[in-house]
Amino acid sequence: MSELVRFGVSLEKPLLERFDLLIRERQYTNRSEALRDLIRRELVQREWREGRDVAGAITLIYDHHKRDVLARVMDTQHEFQKVIISTQHIHLDHHNCLEIVAARGKAEEVQKLADALRSIKGVRHGTLSMSSTGKEIG
Ligand code: NI
Repeated sequence: MSELVRFGVSLEKPLLERFDLLIRERQYTNRSEALRDLIRRELVQREWREGRDVAGAITLIYDHHKRDVLARVMDTQHEFQKVIISTQHIHLDHHNCLEIVAARGKAEEVQKLADALRSIKGVRHGTLSMSSTGKEIG
């Protein structure tokens, strides 16, 4: 583990009160932990903006009965095979499937994969959770 460094932060009282409220709502144990998380969130956003190597998860909801949707999801996944680490398919009910696609690679490629999957006709909902390979966030 890296060496811990302490530093002082000056804030206006109302801003600090709002921060403490946020800390309680989000269930952080202390201000330091909340601040570390905020900093890392910014660093991860920068990794994506700058087109670095990133990791993320794409979730899709689709009706597997809809014409061609399954084949299109598969075709797209084969096309982006280099950035896909793993996929999980869950049958939510008779119609709906939840698919989770874990991806790692250049930000642009992972974003393209998410866009390609989300835009398939029959995919009802899709999200991209933008995360990090963890190497550059301390
Ligand atoms: Ni299914």
